Amino acid sequence: MSFAIMCSGGDAPGMNPAIKKFVDYVYKKGSTPYLIYDGLEGLIDKKIKKATHSDVSGILHNGGTIIRSSRSKRFFEHSYRMQAYYNLKEFGITKLVVLGGDGSFRAMQIFSSEFELNFVGIPSTIDNDIYGTDYCLGVDTALNVIRDALDKIRDTASSFSRAFLVEVMGRDCGYLAIVSSMISGAEVCVVPEVAFEPKELTKRLKDEMQNGRNYILAIVAEGSKKTTEVFNWLQDDIGMETRVSILGHIQRGGNPTVYDRLMAFDFTIIAVDHLLVNNNSNKIAVYKKGEFGLMEIEDVVSNKYQLPKHYLDALNLLD
Ligand code: F6P
Repeated sequence: MSFAIMCSGGDAPGMNPAIKKFVDYVYKKGSTPYLIYDGLEGLIDKKIKKATHSDVSGILHNGGTIIRSSRSKRFFEHSYRMQAYYNLKEFGITKLVVLGGDGSFRAMQIFSSEFELNFVGIPSTIDNDIYGTDYCLGVDTALNVIRDALDKIRDTASSFSRAFLVEVMGRDCGYLAIVSSMISGAEVCVVPEVAFEPKELTKRLKDEMQNGRNYILAIVAEGSKKTTEVFNWLQDDIGMETRVSILGHIQRGGNPTVYDRLMAFDFTIIAVDHLLVNNNSNKIAVYKKGEFGLMEIEDVVSNKYQLPKHYLDALNLLD
């Protein structure tokens, strides 16, 4: 039996531990693991190689992905999907593990509706925006990168009378922003899921400033597209000199945390175990309420991830 693993879309810390576990575990089960390089682009271009133990030795602690990734435009054309399918056939690969996010799973859903496939997707994105799972690989590491940056920014913020606005990633999802705000004690958090209506907050912050507040930490999710508006509000309405830090791609880097390594191992074992005994089954591995499971890809891609209610409640407390 031949298995293959590939990454698609934005890389996430935890991909390398998953790739290592995949190769070791597939060999342990008496099957052959293949590596697909460069994501869906590489699948189209037949960048496929039988894995050796040395390919995956010494990679577990590294961020990114040793097999690289891509955002493929070509894969949205039928002729390239057909090429990709025949490449899998040529190598005798009948079991596929895909580490990716929402966009990659949509692409896989189209692929699986046209060709006979058998794959399991492992949610891997720092955005934590995939329906059906409470956790995606990379999130804990990204949150720790943001936490570290915020702790440092707070050091300088507290030494001046200034507001600091920090923009974090997350695409259209406010998960990274809201959790980062909670754990760093930010005064302001703006996410795409909630309208920014700062009337009450303006009054509260001004009262606090009269009572000695001399700095403000504001976290803005990139997906809200409110960075300029919040900056102007802090400067003009709140009346505090303001600095902006856009954290950008450093949030996607860094050695995977203990949690991301353990989650990578568990997700990978669930995926391989399922593929070992199933054919023509296209699922996503999920982690829900403390338990691992599998979900139909249609359900995952046709529903939108919602932020947990208790996180939105925490946002109300900040506002
Ligand atoms: O999906 C992960 C992510 O890092 C998002 O948070 C961000 O919006 C996007 O990818 C950036 O994409 P790229 O690396 O293609 O610029």
